Formats: sequence, C-alpha cells, structure tokens
Amino acid sequence: MEKEKVTIIGAGVIGGAIACAICDDFEVTATRRKLERLSALAEKGIKVTTNNEEAVSEADIVIISVKPHQVIPLLKSLSRQLADKLVISFAASINIDLIQRVIPRSRIVRAMTNIAVQVKEGYTVYSCGKGIKEEDHAIIGKIFEDMGEYEEVEEQYLDVLTAMAGSSPAYLYTVVEAMIYGALHVGLPRDLALRSAAWSVIGASHLLLSSGKHPAELRDMVVTPGGVTIDAIYALEDGKVRTAFMKAILDASLKAKALSKAACIEAEKQIES
Ligand SMILES: NC(=O)c1ccc[n+]([C@@H]2O[C@H](COP(=O)([O-])OP(=O)(O)OC[C@H]3O[C@@H](n4cnc5c(N)ncnc54)[C@H](OP(=O)(O)O)[C@@H]3O)[C@@H](O)[C@H]2O)c1
Repeated sequence: MEKEKVTIIGAGVIGGAIACAICDDFEVTATRRKLERLSALAEKGIKVTTNNEEAVSEADIVIISVKPHQVIPLLKSLSRQLADKLVISFAASINIDLIQRVIPRSRIVRAMTNIAVQVKEGYTVYSCGKGIKEEDHAIIGKIFEDMGEYEEVEEQYLDVLTAMAGSSPAYLYTVVEAMIYGALHVGLPRDLALRSAAWSVIGASHLLLSSGKHPAELRDMVVTPGGVTIDAIYALEDGKVRTAFMKAILDASLKAKALSKAACIEAEKQIES
C-alpha cells in the first residue's frame, strides 16, 4: 500500500524528532531554511529540502513545527498550497482560530508533545479544528501513535499542558540529577546511580498508569514502618518538595498562558499586516 506523504515544515528539535519517529510508516519530507542542518535526517532516508512550497504541494498532511512567532508569516506564504490539506501545528501558543483565519480551507489540528518523541515515547495532546474528517482521525492517530502516547483534549487545556507535557522532562531531569548527586554523596558509582534513578522513574510511572491507583496509595505501599523510605519522605517534606512542584507547575502554567496571550496578539498583527 502506498504510504501517505507527510511534509514537516521546520524540522528542528521537535520537527526532526517527529520526522524520525514516523518515517517508517509515512513518506516524510522535512524542510528548514538551512539545508546542511538537515543532513542527519537525510542520512535516515528522509527527503530534505528548503523548498516549502514544493514540499507542501506534494504532501497529503503537513506538520508545522517552527517557532510560534514564525507560524503566521509561514502559513500566509503557503496558504494556496495548504488549501484542502490536513495541517498539524505543534507550535505552542498559536490557537486554532488564528490558524484557521489564515488558512480557512485547511483542516487544522493543534498539538503539543515533548522531547521523548526522540525515543518514540512522547506524550502528545491535541485538539481538532472544524471540518476534521473521519479518515483524518485515523491518520492523526497513526502519526501520534508512532510518536508515543496521545490523547485528544479541549483546546483550553493546551497552554497548561505545555507546562506539563511539553516541559515535564526538564523537571524530571532535575529530580533525577538531584537523586544521582545524593547517591554520589554516599559513594554509588555515577552510571549505576543514573540507571537506578532513571529506571525507577520509568517503572514507577508504568505502575501508576497500569494500576489505576492514586500515587499516594502506591507510595504508602513502599513506606514501611521504621523503614528506609520514610526517612527520605521526611527529608523531602522538610524540603517542601511538594510545595516546590506545585509552585513550579503553577508558575510554568501562568507563564505559558502569558506567552500565549502575547503570541496571539502578535499573530493578530501579523494576520492584519
Ligand atoms: N522543544 C520542545 O520540547 C517542544 C515541545 C513541543 C512543542 N514545541 C514547539 O515546536 C516548535 C519548534 O520548537 P523546537 O524546539 O523544535 O525549535 P527549533 O529547534 O528552533 O525548530 C524550529 C525550526 O524551524 C525552522 N524554520 C524556521 N523558519 C522556517 C521556514 N520559513 N521554513 C522552514 N523551516 C523553518 C528552523 O530551522 P532554520 O533556521 O534552518 O530554518 C528550526 O530548525 C515551537 O513552536 C515549539 O513551541 C517544542
């Protein structure tokens, strides 16, 4: 069966990761303005070009992964080629309504994912604009499944999810790094400390999702009276770790909303210009 053609405009960190994640199941073309920076993708057999117009014209589905302030000018320049196509935007902040105004004849999906797409274990959340067809849902599912886990959400949650799904790897790396340093402090070899922390994050997450239990219930299963874990929990509570994380998510969400508002105001001006 012939593979669907997906063009990725802006194959940087996220766009490049998406290209690699889906290239076995789709015929992928990746673009950016500097061809030499696409050589790693070309080595994987992905078609690369700087010609956005041609790449979009040939595509069945177009993925937009440029920076938010670049989205509207890019869509304006490609509006004719994008007409009647399924367009998936991964740009933070730029809402479906704005995109739809620039390319009214396209079918729009707005998505947010994270860097774990590089190992096909991203978590992608997305919202659909008007006019998405039944067969589009199947293609969207196939693309996002190649990238990891995915779910459809209301668009109003996408800014907060930028602070959760998009940024969470950075928070977790901070936690893992701190755990490694704690282990180094008591003499555990560095590599062993890293694997121990990282695999524990993976295992604990899988258990959380598969058990359906509340995190507090699972934690209680590990905290035995007079045991080792309670000493760590006591130290974490003393360090206000939960307050720190709640504040982190709150601050990041507020920042995501503020950036979104500013980006939409700029996008409005770009649409009018
Ligand atoms: N990084 C993350 O964890 C993450 C997660 C989820 C979503 N996002 C979203 O994904 C988007 C990209 O983020 P990123 O971190 O991947 O940034 P990035 O690495 O800077 O990628 C953006 C790419 O767009 C290319 N580009 C800019 N203008 C272009 C044009 N006119 N035609 C073709 N390519 C063009 C740039 O390459 P050239 O300069 O060579 O053209 C660059 O490689 C952002 O909107 C961000 O909100 C990022």
